[in-house]
Amino acid sequence: MRSPMDCDSGGSDMPFRASVLTLYPDMFPGPLGASLSGRALNEGIWSLNATNIRDFAADRHRSVDDTPAGGGAGMVLRPDVLAAALDSVADGRPMLAPTPRGAPLTQARIRELVLGEGVILLCGRFEGFDERIFEARPLEPVSIGDYVLSGGELGAMVILDACVRLLPGVMGAASSGEEESFEQGLLEYPHYTRPVTWEGRTIPEVLRSGDHAKIAAWRHAQAVEDTRLRRPDLIERHGGASQAPPSGARRRDTKAKEK
Ligand code: 6GU
Repeated sequence: MRSPMDCDSGGSDMPFRASVLTLYPDMFPGPLGASLSGRALNEGIWSLNATNIRDFAADRHRSVDDTPAGGGAGMVLRPDVLAAALDSVADGRPMLAPTPRGAPLTQARIRELVLGEGVILLCGRFEGFDERIFEARPLEPVSIGDYVLSGGELGAMVILDACVRLLPGVMGAASSGEEESFEQGLLEYPHYTRPVTWEGRTIPEVLRSGDHAKIAAWRHAQAVEDTRLRRPDLIERHGGASQAPPSGARRRDTKAKEK
């Protein structure tokens, strides 16, 4: 297991390995090749392998899908082809299948994934996967939201982005902090920077007071209020009460200060 405490030897300096099974391997790394995740990929903090599911088709037509049993629109990915693709990369890493039929992905699940050695992501297209694959292999269906994407690839990229930014050395202090949205069951507090007055709107006075306890209390109150307004489901899920206020002393609040 990889742990935030492991900074030296013993497995944690192994790259976080992502294996993606997809009918469109050319879509990768895509946006994951840019910015923070791209730099981390180049630095070997994580690795990415995209494999074409079609390589595991058994017939001479290389077919991966067939018509749905019971009738209906679209095509369904064959379980034998999916199993062969999964088995080719399976090595104990969690296997996830991005699908709108999955359980909603959470920051808590992302934090768990990052502690492991990597992930295997099985991307579907068409109408979806033959359901038997979920019984025959330890495959976790996960959703990134209540809308339908045309395939699992963008979902896989979202999952990988969320994981990679938490890997040691990728983001520095910011991502290890517990003040981010969802870490306390709340949305994060709002941010401000210069100019102090912009289009007649001034940065809240408290943020320029230098009183760190007062700033922490204000931020917590804002986080609670924004969460109530925008995400009442989060308040509900976390027992209706807000968690302990974030420590204002742990973080330098340079940004919102008048410089
Ligand atoms: Cl993760 N995959 C697909 N294909 N569609 C989705 C999704 C994922 N999350 C919501 N819709």
